[in-house]
Order: sequence, then C-alpha cells, then structure tokens
Amino acid sequence: MAVYKRAVDVLDDLNERREQARLGGGTRRIEAQHRRGKFTARERLDMLFDGGSFEELDAFAQHRATEFGLADQKTLGDAVVTGYGKVSGRLAFAYSQDFTVLGGSLSEVVAKKICKVMDLASNSGAPMVGLIDSGGARIQEGVLSLAGYADIFLRNVRSSGVIPQISVILGPAAGGATYSPALTDFIFMVKDTGQMYITGPDVIRAVTGEEVTHEQLGGADSHSTRSGVAHFSLQSEESCLSEVRRLLGFLPQNNMEDPPRYDAFDDPERRDDGLLGIIPDNSNAPYDMAQIIESVVDDGEFMQVHAAYARNVIVGFARMDGRSIGIVAQQPSHLAGVLDIDASTKAARFVRFCDAFNIPLLTLIDVPGFLPGTDQEFGGIIRHGAKLIYAYAEASVPKVSVLTRKAYGGAYIVMSSKGLLGDINYAWPTAEIAVMGPEGAVNIIYRSEIASADDPDATRSQLVQDYSDRLVNPYVAASHGLIDDVIDPADTRSKVIKSLEMLADKRESLPRRKHGSIPL
Ligand code: HXC
Repeated sequence: MAVYKRAVDVLDDLNERREQARLGGGTRRIEAQHRRGKFTARERLDMLFDGGSFEELDAFAQHRATEFGLADQKTLGDAVVTGYGKVSGRLAFAYSQDFTVLGGSLSEVVAKKICKVMDLASNSGAPMVGLIDSGGARIQEGVLSLAGYADIFLRNVRSSGVIPQISVILGPAAGGATYSPALTDFIFMVKDTGQMYITGPDVIRAVTGEEVTHEQLGGADSHSTRSGVAHFSLQSEESCLSEVRRLLGFLPQNNMEDPPRYDAFDDPERRDDGLLGIIPDNSNAPYDMAQIIESVVDDGEFMQVHAAYARNVIVGFARMDGRSIGIVAQQPSHLAGVLDIDASTKAARFVRFCDAFNIPLLTLIDVPGFLPGTDQEFGGIIRHGAKLIYAYAEASVPKVSVLTRKAYGGAYIVMSSKGLLGDINYAWPTAEIAVMGPEGAVNIIYRSEIASADDPDATRSQLVQDYSDRLVNPYVAASHGLIDDVIDPADTRSKVIKSLEMLADKRESLPRRKHGSIPL
C-alpha cells in the first residue's frame, strides 16, 4: 500500500510535537529536577500507573497569557500532565504538576486541564490522584489563576464521598494551593521534598519573628506527626507512589461499589492461642494492640493510616477473608489508649471515609475514657469527642467490635456500642465495662464508709474487689444483650469473619435530609 508523503509529514510533525510536550520545561530544568532528588511529572505517572497504561490528555494545551513576558514562555501541555490509566488493572485518573514549567504554577489553562480529568473521574466513577509539585497560583495570571483554584476546590468537594481522592505532595504546595489536597481523602508526603504551608518561613519571620525552616514548618514529619494534615509520610517518591497503589487496592472505585474482594489464602478459621496471653494481668499495664490486629487479619497485612499522629488510636485498612475492612482500635501502649482531641478527630474522619465507601468497620476496644485536663477541655474535647459519636452513629456499613479489655464511661458508648447501632459486639473474657475504673468508682460511692472505717485502706480494697467482681466483667453487659457474645480470644478471626459474611448485604435506610450538622 502506498504511503503518501503528506501522511509521513503529518506523522513526523505529530511525533515532534509530542516529543516537545514530553520535554516540558526542557532538558536543563529536567536535570535540575533530578539533581534535587525529584522525578519529573511524567516519570511519576509511570510509577503510579501499570506499565504503559497511561493515556495523556491535553498534551497540546497552552496558556493564553501574554503579559509579563508570558507570550514568549509557552510550553505544550503547560505546567501539568493529565490523563488516565490502570492501577493494578483498575481505572484511575491523575494529574501531575510539572515543576519544570514555570515552577508547576497553576495557570487558567492548567486549572482547566485538571478540572477536565476531575470531571471525567467523577463521571466515570474512578479514583482521582493529584501529584503536587507547584509554586501555587501563577503570579502573572492573577485572578484567573485564583479562579482556577476555586474551580478545583469545587470539584474536590463535589467528588467527596463519590470517588476516592488522593493527593501526593512531592514538592512545594504553598498558600491556598494546600487546600485542594486538604479537601481530598488522603495526603501522602515525601520527606525532605514535599512541603505544605499556608504562609512560608519568610512571612512567619516578618509577622511573628519566629525562625523556622521550610522542612520544619511544612515537611512530611511535621504534618504526619504534629498537625495530622498528612496521612502517610514516605522516604522516597518510589515508595510513596507504590503505597498509593497499595491504598487504592483496598478501596472501591466509587461509592456505588463494594470494595474489591480478593482470593484469600489465609484460613478464615485460623485460631491464635497466643492472643489471650497478650492482655497483661495488671489491667493498667500496656500491651501492643497492633499484635492483635496483625494476628486476626489476612496474612498479617495492615495498612496503617496516620501511623505517627495521635498514636493512642490506630486506624487503617486490612482484609478479612479477602474483604477490605477499616480498623479502628485503641493503642494501650500509647497514652493508655485514651481518647483525646486528636484521637477523636482522627478516628471520626476514618469512620466517615469507610462509611462513605462501603468499607465495613472492625473496632477493637480498650479505652480507659476521655483524657482529663484543662488543655483538653479548653481545646474543645466535648466538641471533638462528639465527632466520633456522630461518625459511629451515622455509619451504616457493617460495624463489628471486639472489646479486649477496658470500656469505661463515655468512651464505651462512643466506640461502636450497641446503642450507636454496632451490629455485632464481641467481648473477650478479660473485658471490663463500667462507668469508671474500680478505684475511682469506690472512692465516690463509698466515700463515707471508707472515711469512717477502722482501716480505710483495707475497706477500700475490699470494696474495690467487690465492685470488680460484680460489675467489671463482660457478663453483665452480655446479660442485657449489649454484648452479643463473650468469645475465646483465639477464635477472634473466625468470629469476625463470620459476622462480616452475615452482614455483607446489610442495608440501612436513614431519614432523608440535606445533610447533618456534624459538630466541626
Ligand atoms: C509563576 C513561578 C511561581 C509562581 C515559581 N515560579 N513559582 N512562576 N508563578 N507562583 C517560577 C520561578 O519564577 C522560576 O522560574 C521557576 O518557577 C522555579 O522557581 P524557583 O523559585 O527558581 O524554584 P525554587 O527555588 O525551588 O523555589 C520554589 C518555590 C518558589 C518555593 C515554590 O518559587 C516560590 O516561593 N514561589 C512562589 C510561591 C508562592 O508564593 N505562590 C503563591 C502562593 S499563594 P525561572 O524562569 O526563573 O526558572 C497561592 C494562592 C492560591 O497559590 C489561592 C487559592 C485559593
């Protein structure tokens, strides 16, 4: 068949343009990006998506600005690469900001490209991943750039609870530009290169006189341990993008689907006789709840979210008999697993995410109560603790809980209790359910008896023993149906799997309303 010269020419021209677009800001800037230990926008997309599956859109888009010398600085594709592809064989959309083009800044056209893929993701019901490396609003474009951010924020909000949205911070994200990631479900950050802040060190120095480095202020460590803004903090871009892929594997494509179910090779009936031995004889002694989690889930695989923030509560994803579940658990080895402001908001947010995306909840409880103190009271523990009650009460996904040890006071009610429509509530024989711990309770209800006793200490310990025998065990709650069964800890895995199986088609209808008013 003859190939006409014009056909050859147009293909050559197309390939030349593609190559030009592929080079973004040019080889010199690509080298500079590499020297900083950063990958380019396209290299990152190659790491995120299955090999060769990424399909780029709008590679020929160009900004329209002419002022401040921008007429001479047009780059094919402008400062972002957008498109779709497969992650472990499932559709996903992404945008990847290109720092080599005007510092990855957001022009009107960059915003339009991002909004286009966000709309496609939302309409196709597939996750949206944003790879952020940008100097923020393109200064030369003024209000058009700011308006572009508004268009993105609107889509973040409209897609919330519809498709999973993930942000990956691989470079700067400053000012209002941080708010698109903040509106998404999960933020990943890479140490030393990813930085997020509303106002940078220079502004802070000018306004408050404080000296702080970019990394101290907005680095991955700060946001994953102190502010809680970042859910995951990784050492390298490769490990970070690999973790994004892993997270997507736990999630459904959208809120109309169930999470993917995988073939499980871990025996659903597997017992672990070591579990009972984890609970110390002294009911105030710490132990590591992570050991229990790893024992009961498939293959011990647990993807912890917010691992370094508010460590008194553990949240994350795992599978049981191949089904994704969200786990919320106290960590008795950190602050005795107490519920404080940060733990309450961390857990509440996670519960709401799981509920929005049909991921059943397994709650492992060992909670001595809410944290006393003026810091907590003045900081609004009442308001923040209420978020967790709200989240559990509202969640209509299957809710299974296992009480390993303490459930005291309001914290008993909060943690997926029957009253908040916990579907199946198990307790280990070591469980203690009470308004408060035995010592505190006895000091209040027997104050005068203890004061007037010949030997107050002996009387107190006798009363403590009596209180513990009568109230601090799971059988009182079980006699009222507030605990569905007291189980051998060794059987925890099989009991939970059977409950989840039974609840797999759970449907619960809630009254119609525009939306509730969670105490934010
Ligand atoms: C246009 C920008 C830019 C921007 C960087 N560049 N930021 N161009 N608009 N916002 C350009 C630089 O001029 C430079 O071009 C190239 O990108 C690389 O930038 P450098 O400064 O050389 O890089 P580096 O030293 O690594 O510093 C990166 C940076 C810094 C920390 C991001 O560039 C910076 O502070 N930029 C401004 C950040 C900012 O204040 N943005 C506005 C935030 S407020 P040449 O041609 O010289 O290589 C905001 C409002 C959003 O975004 C509101 C939403 C509601």
